[in-house]
Amino acid sequence: MRRFFPPYVYNPITFFGAGLAGLSFGLIIFLTILELLSPESKPYMGIITFIILPIFLLIGIFLLVVGMLRERRRLEQGIKRRKRFMIIDLNDPKQRRMITLFSIGAVLLLFFSAFGSYKAYEFSDSDEFCGEMCHEVMAPEYTAYLSSPHSRVGCVTCHIGSGAAWFVRAKISGSYQVYSVLFKKYSKPIPTPVKDLRPAAGTCEQCHSPQHFFSEIRREFTYYLYDEKNTKSSLSMLLKIGGGNSDLGRAEGIHWHMNIANKMEYLYTDSIRDNIPWVKQTNNITGKVKIFKKKNFVYDEKKVNKENLRTMDCIDCHNRPSHIYNPSDKSVNLSMSLGRIDEKLPYIKNIAVNALEGDYSTKQSGLDSIAYAINDFYNTNFPSVAQEKKENISKAIEEIQKIYNRNYFPSMRVSWRGFPNHLSHLYDSGCFRCHDGEHFTDDGEMIRRDCNLCHTIISQTTSKGENLVSMSGVDFVHPEDLGTDVKDLICVECHARK
Ligand code: HEC
Ligand code: HEC
Ligand code: HEC
Ligand code: HEC
Ligand code: HEC
Ligand code: HEC
Repeated sequence: MRRFFPPYVYNPITFFGAGLAGLSFGLIIFLTILELLSPESKPYMGIITFIILPIFLLIGIFLLVVGMLRERRRLEQGIKRRKRFMIIDLNDPKQRRMITLFSIGAVLLLFFSAFGSYKAYEFSDSDEFCGEMCHEVMAPEYTAYLSSPHSRVGCVTCHIGSGAAWFVRAKISGSYQVYSVLFKKYSKPIPTPVKDLRPAAGTCEQCHSPQHFFSEIRREFTYYLYDEKNTKSSLSMLLKIGGGNSDLGRAEGIHWHMNIANKMEYLYTDSIRDNIPWVKQTNNITGKVKIFKKKNFVYDEKKVNKENLRTMDCIDCHNRPSHIYNPSDKSVNLSMSLGRIDEKLPYIKNIAVNALEGDYSTKQSGLDSIAYAINDFYNTNFPSVAQEKKENISKAIEEIQKIYNRNYFPSMRVSWRGFPNHLSHLYDSGCFRCHDGEHFTDDGEMIRRDCNLCHTIISQTTSKGENLVSMSGVDFVHPEDLGTDVKDLICVECHARK
């Protein structure tokens, strides 16, 4: 029998290696074509196509070579293999049947393993996998996610993005996460911020172009105080979200300063990035550098923890784009302003907030206690209201329970209190981490904090019922008379989540 290759090629190890390498190579081609044809890029595809399969390919090639080397040594030593193959005779009907069956089987196996690996990859990429497999652990994030503007954006799109490098990092930490869920090693709640989150350029900016922010958006707020009448006030503001492309509008505002014309770096000294004593602004066009620091802070190269230096991106303001846990105050104000909670019920704002903030050990006990507390309050203090407004009270209870369900997760010890939201300055320091009037350059320039820098309050109905309107901005009147000018105060000093 004439042989195509040198004799040492013909040995079982080499054949096995060649088979493995061939199969992996085929699958790589198959998955690459699938990826090219699929309309959206799937981050997990990369790991199978470019990492796992190539490992098998390499193992195959390694075995192939090892087999040849071993066989050559054997041949040199004169050890002869007896017949290496059985002889197939297609004239024998039994053998023919066997071969046909075997070939069909092999083709089917190949097909299903390709299909199977495709399905497996698709599943590990899905939101069900992320959100539901680890049901209890991820329940808070998943629930909040479902009612966020990003409920149609896959978890991996923000948490991993596309490309093989981040894929590997995610896989490594992912396998640790699976382990920690299986062995209950995870912490409650899951800590925030996420360390090593991918910079926003690879995630958010794939959908939102920072160049395209312009003009203002209008935001309405309605407030109720904690008194018997639930004293109402409201305001309407234009938030200056501009800063993108001057072709589309004015090139100033919240987004311009942070992202395009400037590079902003900062140093934080605590785990939630709340305390920021040092900010460096580099103008990308002129190259001019400004350093703002808190009084008494000295930037010492040697003492500074370099890991705590961050270049500002979307996440430094939008840290809760998807997992938003609202403060009870805010949720109750909204439900009342929408009429879902009757604003005529005496003290309803007060008791609703207190009921929500109770310390409950399970979700069910929370829901039950809320119903009990509110019914009990009206039965004891306002028996006539309890009679007349029975229906409105139970509607209010239902709504408050909804708020609880959506924002509180006792089993994971999650509520808005543990998860600061940097997008404002009322309940968390947010913008006032830097815009607090305490950050100066050596020349005495301050990071500005005047109330019209970021928004213009165009109208306000105060707690006393006055209507203030001005397109150039009304001075904010604090809903509760504080006796001093609120403009000089830091809101979180009284409003903080504690
Ligand atoms: C729109 C982008 C986006 C989407 C979609 C998204 N996340 Fe997040 N996620 C974030 C950001 C941003 C953070 C907070 C990062 C930070 O502060 O460091 C975060 C934080 C988390 C945390 C850490 C704990 C916490 O609450 O801060 C977990 C767990 C998490 N996400 C799980 C998920 C799961 C599960 C899904 C899908 C059901 C998902 N995420 C979808 C952007 C997203
Ligand atoms: C896959 C595309 C996609 C990605 C990735 C994405 N977003 Fe969005 N985002 C959207 C869409 C679509 C909307 C509009 C949703 C709507 O109005 O219902 C939106 C809305 C928003 C809004 C406005 C929300 C509001 O209350 O109206 C903000 C802010 C935002 N995204 C920030 C982010 C940030 C920050 C990230 C990165 C962590 C991010 N997005 C990642 C698609 C995306
Ligand atoms: C000295 C403490 C203090 C400071 C500082 C302070 N507030 Fe208040 N704020 C209060 C009190 C007290 C109330 C009334 C709570 C109640 O009875 O409802 C209140 C109520 C409010 C309300 C209505 C609350 C609601 O949920 O309906 C808003 C809005 C508000 N403050 C905004 C601000 C802003 C913005 C700042 C910062 C510029 C600020 N406050 C600074 C003490 C303070
Ligand atoms: C300095 C803080 C800051 C940074 C940095 C920042 N944003 Fe914003 N962004 C805001 C604020 C504040 C708003 C208005 C919030 C609101 O809707 O109440 C906003 C609004 C938005 C909106 C909604 C705009 C609309 O028309 O409704 C989107 C989308 C958005 N940001 C995306 C991004 C993306 C993407 C990045 C990163 C390239 C980014 N932002 C960086 C503060 C910031
Ligand atoms: C890490 C520090 C830091 C944080 C956090 C921060 N800023 Fe700034 N911001 C600066 C610095 C520094 C400047 C430049 C100094 C100045 O203009 O006063 C600036 C300037 C601005 C300007 C002026 C832009 C212009 O067109 O001139 C706006 C608007 C602004 N910030 C909005 C915000 C908002 C809104 C938030 C919160 C969502 C925020 N910033 C959070 C550091 C910060
Ligand atoms: C650095 C930018 C910046 C400065 C300076 C600033 N604000 Fe704001 N303010 C914001 C942002 C961002 C929001 C969030 C808007 C939203 O929730 O959509 C906000 C929200 C508010 C709200 C509504 C809060 C709520 O959730 O009900 C009030 C009231 C307010 N600001 C008053 C003030 C007053 C008074 C000052 C001056 C002491 C001031 N702001 C200075 C950025 C700023």
